[in-house]
Amino acid sequence: MLKGKRILLVVAGGIAAFKALELIRRLRERGAAVRCVLTEAGAKFVTPLSLQALSEDRVYGDMFSLTDESEMGHIQLSRDADLLVVVPATADLLARMAAGLANDLASTVLLATDKPVLVAPAMNVRMWTHAATVANVETLKRRGIHFVGPTEGAMACNEFGPGRMSEAAEIADAIERLVAPAARPLAGRRAVVTSGPTREAIDPVRYISNHSSGKQGHAIAAALAALGAEVTLVSGPVAIADPPGVKTVAVESADQMLAACQQAGRVDIAVCAAAVADWKVARPTGAKIKKKPGAPPPGLELTPNPDILATLSKPGAGRPALVVGFAAETEAVVANAIDKRQRKGCDWIVANDVSPATGTFGGDRNTVHLVSAAGVEDWPTLAKDEVARRLAGRIALHFAQPPKAEAAE
Ligand code: C5P
Repeated sequence: MLKGKRILLVVAGGIAAFKALELIRRLRERGAAVRCVLTEAGAKFVTPLSLQALSEDRVYGDMFSLTDESEMGHIQLSRDADLLVVVPATADLLARMAAGLANDLASTVLLATDKPVLVAPAMNVRMWTHAATVANVETLKRRGIHFVGPTEGAMACNEFGPGRMSEAAEIADAIERLVAPAARPLAGRRAVVTSGPTREAIDPVRYISNHSSGKQGHAIAAALAALGAEVTLVSGPVAIADPPGVKTVAVESADQMLAACQQAGRVDIAVCAAAVADWKVARPTGAKIKKKPGAPPPGLELTPNPDILATLSKPGAGRPALVVGFAAETEAVVANAIDKRQRKGCDWIVANDVSPATGTFGGDRNTVHLVSAAGVEDWPTLAKDEVARRLAGRIALHFAQPPKAEAAE
């Protein structure tokens, strides 16, 4: 929650400015006080009156206003907040921030502030990928400016790609991560999460893989990070964006996934949500296998992949305190999960029914059972990011318990 936090919201001139209105509502619902600075271009998209009505505070826009300056100088305005948030962060405003310009009230408060700054970029895909914007973003990140989004999707300009501003709830979550450390019970804990499918090469152009989308694993990485954990996400090839606040390591094969988990160093928590291919091709060829007229198809000799979950669960000094595996089952879901927990040596198993009728694979919802030494909990059908939040909450609770209670579990 954001009770007692003061947010200075800079609303700049982009079509996504309308989302600032929803963001103000969300922030106020969470207990924050919001004060707005509206740029001249921003006022073409939302009115000062809407911002004022929702924030229940006056809206600042003019740097040379005598009344504004006498009541609340621009330096004080920039300091009198716990966090500055720019919504939407246009290409123009990012460029002015990177250059250190102070040619309107928005850029001036951003230059004058001593508080953290979070920006939510929104622009056409070509503007976002332009070398000038890329360089500006790099500069700002180096200086410690925080970013949320942009995400990929359809845009007002009828193009598709990265550049779409994050939704109000995601921006509110990012704000909470930055200014509400009390809601970070996993601060100081390190976690590794595997996600997505693996790809096992047959030759340089062909591979064996599966339909895992990575949605559940990515959501878990984001949820653990939201609770303050330092998260390394080891992901096979997926079509979704890297989650915010997480170090993502992209891998292809199971061997690479295991190596990346081990390279993440000592962790307190390991969550194996990846759909690791059970087998790899014993001897992938260095050159593309040629299709020869009349010749039979090549036989593929398969060999087992390393079991990452079982490897990370092995007892020893470096074992994470909590190892969580997944069990994708199509029948006897809970019984198989109980058996799998013992076989793999992990602490918890999140068992989910992936029979085609459930739509779990590639879908947005999941029905899971949490299996631990203490027993089985049946969770209701939830959005995958809600499953992730609950699981992260349970993990936080586990670490909050005194060691005796943990041992008894
Ligand atoms: O054995 P099965 O694939 O059903 O086990 C599923 C669990 O084991 C998941 O947590 C998955 O990420 C993990 N796993 C793994 N390495 C493998 C196979 C499965 O980490 N080679």
